[in-house]
Amino acid sequence: MTDRMTYETESRRERFRGKVVIVTGAAQGIGRGVALAAAREGAQLVLADRAGLVAEVAAECAELKAQVAVVQSDLETYAGAVAVVDRALAEFGRVDVLVNNVGGTIWAKPYQEYEEEQIEAEIRRSLFPTLWCCRAVLPSMIERRSGSIVNISSIATRGIYRIPYSAAKGGINALTASLALEHAQDGIRVNAVATGGTEAPPRVVPRNPQPLSAQEQAWYQGIVDQTIASSPMHRYGTIGEQVGAILFLASDEASYITGSVLPVGGGDQG
Ligand SMILES: NC(=O)c1ccc[n+]([C@@H]2O[C@H](COP(=O)([O-])OP(=O)(O)OC[C@H]3O[C@@H](n4cnc5c(N)ncnc54)[C@H](O)[C@@H]3O)[C@@H](O)[C@H]2O)c1
Repeated sequence: MTDRMTYETESRRERFRGKVVIVTGAAQGIGRGVALAAAREGAQLVLADRAGLVAEVAAECAELKAQVAVVQSDLETYAGAVAVVDRALAEFGRVDVLVNNVGGTIWAKPYQEYEEEQIEAEIRRSLFPTLWCCRAVLPSMIERRSGSIVNISSIATRGIYRIPYSAAKGGINALTASLALEHAQDGIRVNAVATGGTEAPPRVVPRNPQPLSAQEQAWYQGIVDQTIASSPMHRYGTIGEQVGAILFLASDEASYITGSVLPVGGGDQG
């Protein structure tokens, strides 16, 4: 059996040397893992997040000798997305790779328990940042006739107790396939990783700051149980296992792959 990748793995490759890589939601979790791994592989980075904690990740990347720009912005707004792309263009002159990582279910419960505004909030969190950032980055990629976009989806497109999030990630899959079709002629590849359940350190920036009731904890456990049951490997993955797939699709190693959604969930196809 092969070793599981960890995001601390030292890379001997330099797939991103001389490439400008935007990572959204880079302050923690999978986004932080992508940022650190890309830094090890020589990327010039633009790290975007709503949380100021992203500055600490930028400092970690700088310790790895990466050039890094930080943008603190709300990517649920189009203006926030434009600010990130404008900063990348001002600092580095171009964008080679965009990793759209912002997202994550805010609530865990059966659909009939969601309030109207909660459904809207889930779509704003897990669909709009990717829609906005793709729209913001396209003109400069079309002009250069080059670019690679990786969207972070989820195997929750077939999962319980987070239906609005599932719908948002289904939207991510659709925009990935259609944007790839529309812009292959411009030299732009668009792919997605459908992330499975992923072990991560406790979140410094919570998705939902409210403490969970016993009922809400039971619903959350329902998600965990269903995720493990649906995966032939019956386990959660590591951040490194997600990062490996994301950076493969982002890199020139995937030069003949576009419009694909790659499930990374121990065999759960989503
Ligand atoms: N962790 C998992 O088990 C898992 C499973 C399937 C899919 N995913 C997907 O992977 C991605 C990353 O997940 P994670 O668990 O590492 O995320 P996380 O919740 O730990 O971190 C998300 C980051 O995005 C930032 N963010 C949130 N809203 C923002 C906004 N409006 N503007 C700017 N930044 C914002 C947060 O500050 C945070 O740093 C998400 O798209 C998620 O849906 C995660």
